Amino acid sequence: MQIKSASFVMSNSNVEKCPKEPIPEYAFIGRSNVGKSSLINMLTNRKHLAKTSGRPGKTQLINHFKINENWFLVDLPGYGYAKVSKKLKNTFQKFITEYFKKRNQLVSAFVLIDIRHSPQKIDMEFMQWLGEHAIPFSIIFTKSDKLKPVEIPQNVNNYLQAMTDDIWEEAPNYFVTSSTSGAGKEDVLSYIEQINQQ
Ligand code: GTP
Ligand code: MG
Repeated sequence: MQIKSASFVMSNSNVEKCPKEPIPEYAFIGRSNVGKSSLINMLTNRKHLAKTSGRPGKTQLINHFKINENWFLVDLPGYGYAKVSKKLKNTFQKFITEYFKKRNQLVSAFVLIDIRHSPQKIDMEFMQWLGEHAIPFSIIFTKSDKLKPVEIPQNVNNYLQAMTDDIWEEAPNYFVTSSTSGAGKEDVLSYIEQINQQ
């Protein structure tokens, strides 16, 4: 898919105030610092569309970006960042769960996982929660530039195996990406394009 336009629409912490347009929407979620905002910039060829930071906890609101005038990409705060206060963590958690439960336009979530890491409880629990709420999702493995090429399929297979050893009957759909090298860009965009055309 060619990205002809990408613009910031709004930020807020209340799902009821998100854009009303009934166009398809895809949301990026995952642990703080996993690379959600960087991936949005990589996919849209914009360096500063979504704000990124080397320090976890940068994105703190629901951010809507309108792409090609006919679909939304949503950048969300990360979960699992120990240094934000408990109160703030609870606030994030509340509006993120409200967002996923109530956002009718949401076609699919993308759960971002750092490809270097072995399965973490918090990600497993979050994906289980999506499953229980019948919210479709794919996994996007990020930062593939940080591994040697031979390690990529090994880590991916270990991860998916851990999921099927846990509660999942089947491994989910997944992508391997790097915001630094641009790996996986076309795969993710084609997938979205295909769904948008259905
Ligand atoms: P929060 O908003 O805090 O939840 O973080 P985030 O998930 O949006 O992460 P962000 O995109 O801000 O990136 C976090 C850090 O990881 C930044 O220093 C990025 O430059 C770096 N980073 C993100 N993606 C990649 C990648 O694909 N490769 C490498 N090498 N670094 C990356
Ligand atoms: Mg972010």
